[in-house]
Amino acid sequence: MIIHVLGSAAGGGVPQWNCNGRISAAARSGSGEVFARTQSSLTVSADGKRWVLLNASPDLRHQMAATPALHPHADGPLRNSAIAAVVLTNADVDHITGLLTLREGHAFNVYATSRVLQVLASNSIFNVLDGEKVCRLPIEMDRWIEVLKPQDGFGPLDIRPFLVPGKVALYLEDASAGPGLGTSDGDTVGLEISDGHRRLHYIPGCARVDDTLRARLAGAELVLFDGTLFTDDEMIAQGLSQKTGKRMGHISMSGPEGSMAALAGLGIQRRVYIHINNSNPVLREGSAERSLVEAAGWQIAHDGMEITL
Ligand code: MLT
Ligand code: MN
Repeated sequence: MIIHVLGSAAGGGVPQWNCNGRISAAARSGSGEVFARTQSSLTVSADGKRWVLLNASPDLRHQMAATPALHPHADGPLRNSAIAAVVLTNADVDHITGLLTLREGHAFNVYATSRVLQVLASNSIFNVLDGEKVCRLPIEMDRWIEVLKPQDGFGPLDIRPFLVPGKVALYLEDASAGPGLGTSDGDTVGLEISDGHRRLHYIPGCARVDDTLRARLAGAELVLFDGTLFTDDEMIAQGLSQKTGKRMGHISMSGPEGSMAALAGLGIQRRVYIHINNSNPVLREGSAERSLVEAAGWQIAHDGMEITL
């Protein structure tokens, strides 16, 4: 299985267009202290030829241009693409707006929970995806579904979604619905992905690591996990926002309840943080926070990172 990290940042990217905070400013300066990162998206393939897109970010057009494996095949028909399917883990802006870039008549399937498919259905702009060619298919929790058929001895590529603690998309929050803001099962999922030999767990948004999730991830080969924030209140401390990570539905890396502690000692073979916010000090090369995370056995994803399992 081959995984390309198209975009390793959280919503807004690094630098964020209107942000003059330390990390965005450093990324803009080109000093090498912080590398620019685009918004959250991956592709995965069993054969290096047919790719499944995991979340479609607003930066998708640029991300595909920067990834030769995703270019139209030179010997193929006039219109062709290596992208064969898209799987969505929630309806956040950074995960669905790239679907608009995939108009132009290419045939592919979009897989998401019925909650997320409802969001697409209720926003008519997504009808730019030709309904004759683009099928929207529901995924069910803990059920394997074949998103790519086997071909030439490679694959299939199967996915199994699972519920993770999370939150409804920011623009769908309903303050009148109480502390959950209207969140329901299916608003945020993780994905297990298998090519019949190797398995990846992809969890770009997660509010809490509970015992169910710990048990699921015990002994995993590769976990790509929500790395939005280092500390729960870092956006407040940096004057960027009034929100904590908990309020945004994102667990932090550090602290006794953080993901480093919660996912330690589970025998996970490789752990990579993705979906990293432009407030997170691990983005500074050589920072104390980067060293801490690496000493705990984690890698920080970067755009263009390729992982072969
Ligand atoms: C998130 O990950 O919390 C969202 O992408 C935030 C947003 O919509 O900007
Ligand atoms: Mn996000």
